[in-house]
Amino acid sequence: MIDEKLYLVLMGLPARGKSTLAIRLQESLRKSRIPTKIFNNGNLRRKNLPANDTFSADFYHPENKAARLLRNKFALANIKMARSYLAGSGQVAILDAANVTRTRRKMIEENLSNHPVLFIECLNDDEEILSLMIEAKTKLPEFSRLARKKAQEEFLKRIKNYQMVYTPLKDERNYFRLDSLQNRLFEEKLTDKIPLHLLIKDILVTDVVKNLFLIRHAQTRFNVIDRIGGDSTLTAKGIMQAKALGRFFQNLEISYIFTSNKKRTIQTARAIAERQKYCKVISLKEFDEINGGICEGLTYKDIEKNMPEVFSARAANKYHYAYPQGESYAMMKPRIGAGLKKAFFLNRHAENIMIVGHQAVNRMILSHFLFRRDDDVPYIYIPQDQFYHIVSTQNKKLFELKPYA
Ligand code: F6P
Repeated sequence: MIDEKLYLVLMGLPARGKSTLAIRLQESLRKSRIPTKIFNNGNLRRKNLPANDTFSADFYHPENKAARLLRNKFALANIKMARSYLAGSGQVAILDAANVTRTRRKMIEENLSNHPVLFIECLNDDEEILSLMIEAKTKLPEFSRLARKKAQEEFLKRIKNYQMVYTPLKDERNYFRLDSLQNRLFEEKLTDKIPLHLLIKDILVTDVVKNLFLIRHAQTRFNVIDRIGGDSTLTAKGIMQAKALGRFFQNLEISYIFTSNKKRTIQTARAIAERQKYCKVISLKEFDEINGGICEGLTYKDIEKNMPEVFSARAANKYHYAYPQGESYAMMKPRIGAGLKKAFFLNRHAENIMIVGHQAVNRMILSHFLFRRDDDVPYIYIPQDQFYHIVSTQNKKLFELKPYA
């Protein structure tokens, strides 16, 4: 009989998305009726040791023998619990910890030799993501008595301490090396027969979007006079619309709102964030509106009159036409994709994710989920008095245009 039980062992530097991945794996496997449980070393340590002993980066220094023994003790305790879970009704035990040394991983392999072990290495070196992740990490209870800046310094030092002894997966028998931001596999090695490996791979590379609220910024001064691009602020009507959005979403928990770097999206997002208990507005340049190049700030009529060749070339092939010194829809595609990856990575724990974007940006975001011919994308309807609710998980797809007032 094929052994259907499995140990999944995560590995990677702090703040690389291991715990969020563990939760995602657990949720998806359970949905497929596979009894799964996470064993997290950090949580066990936090339960058993006072925060004072563990916030300092010294606790994670490879030369700190006493601390290393303690950390190993928690690792062993979780190993033991994972073994007994699989000895009972459990099918997949997920061990969530940094596990950055070969020695630690050998210990895991030796102690979990009764079922196959599959390692998953989480890699991600995007500076912007890292600093946002670190900011979130320093809200952990162990940092509660430290000033924000000091906590961030300690966390960065903690990462450096792990980096000193970091050995990538190589000698292990079975592993996936994952770009945890892009949800892409760098490498895979499967020496043994690994149950569920196809399903697991599928979970690793699938974007899971539980509830995405895709909003276009409220009305701006430029909208009223039909000017494109620029960085104008909201009109009185726009402010009312933004406030109405705030009221509409006030009973839903939104932890992050992603915007572009433009005033109009930030202003709209702030009005929504104001009505939330805890909500951070994160501006990503990836979500900036299509760059109109030499046409920025002009009206469509100006363009038709003064640059008829630009106007007709764009009308003939709107998806591929790039404004002189600006962009086409096609050119926006990779940056919008990158922005979405960042937003999903930061938001993975949450039920709800919100993006306040622009007309062309929101068209591209929609086309990321909904199949549309390229030629149709620049004509998708993006109103300012309604928003899109998108769900895209392994079991459910939903696209709905809804009014908010
Ligand atoms: O008019 C608002 C706007 O967001 C402009 O800033 C932008 O150039 C335009 O929409 C994009 O829409 P289209 O591709 O239809 O011109």
